[in-house]
Amino acid sequence: MNLLKPFHHFEPKTAVCSWRSPSNIALVKYWGKKGHQLPANPSLSMTLKECFTETEVKFESAPKLFVAVEFEGKSNEKFAGKIEKYLRSLKIELPWIEGLSVKIQTKNTFPHGTGIASSASGMSAFALCLTDYLQSSMDEDFMKRASYLSRLASGSACRSIYGGFTTWGDESDLFASPFEVHKELAHLHDTIVVVSSAEKSVSSSAGHERMTEHAFRAARYVQAKNNFDRMKSALKSGDMKEVGTITENEAMSLHAMMMTAPDSFTLLKPQTLLAIELIRDFRRMSGLPLYFTLDAGPNLHLIYPETDARKIETFIEYELGPISEKIIKDSRGEGPTPC
Ligand code: PMV
Repeated sequence: MNLLKPFHHFEPKTAVCSWRSPSNIALVKYWGKKGHQLPANPSLSMTLKECFTETEVKFESAPKLFVAVEFEGKSNEKFAGKIEKYLRSLKIELPWIEGLSVKIQTKNTFPHGTGIASSASGMSAFALCLTDYLQSSMDEDFMKRASYLSRLASGSACRSIYGGFTTWGDESDLFASPFEVHKELAHLHDTIVVVSSAEKSVSSSAGHERMTEHAFRAARYVQAKNNFDRMKSALKSGDMKEVGTITENEAMSLHAMMMTAPDSFTLLKPQTLLAIELIRDFRRMSGLPLYFTLDAGPNLHLIYPETDARKIETFIEYELGPISEKIIKDSRGEGPTPC
């Protein structure tokens, strides 16, 4: 399927498009690629509600590709470089992109470096603006196309296009698909415990690359596929214990892959391990369904259902508050919207 084919001969025009798009948290992790921006294993995530990016893009025809980015009111050369590289990577499918001027104003509702995937919300917001620019109306392929364009910018971004729960690498490797879950799990919380907001030492792209020669590569992909299938069944049947158990196994496997890579690195901090101990003790003693996951960083995402939120949040505030820099409350969201 070539989702961009209808736009191969598009004529650049002047238009302003703006979208708000959320971040997402993977319960089954994408870690390692095959081919160009294709996932080595299927992943599954929950789209967030409060943590999102708002982006406005002015597109115009220009003598050559030009990109300017204003991030939170300040010109940002690094982001402009990333968007320019991304747009150039589309030029086989969209050759006219070489004659496009793109002026972007963007802001996040969450601080940088807090373990909330800003590339997922940022790149999906930009890809939605680009899709909006390409098509004047939202046909049935709009979201698929936006997910396809997001994936080419940042893999995990393709899952932010849909609200609720999303899979990628199941129905297709090219774009993500929405996934219906049991009504009791439809409103999970994700409270983010920021133990360190320092810049991470190794980027996600470098981390994905380190899976290529990894001694445990094949075993990891068998495990990920198995966890993915079990996770889908548990989400469908409303089995929170199974969802939480797999979620934690995925978080630990992701970091184990980093620590055992040929060029090993560690993103966990002592406070991450302390928080994990406290969460496990709390779960054992209270019997309440509180589970953690981690992205490519030291900060914890705490996953729990609405039913036990009050008691769990008291534990988070009193036991994890003192060992963290910041706590950000979020939960399952409904997905992107034009703004
Ligand atoms: O989308 P990327 O290339 O930044 O990779 C994201 C990888 C993880 O966040 C660690 C896992 C995931 O599936 O989101």
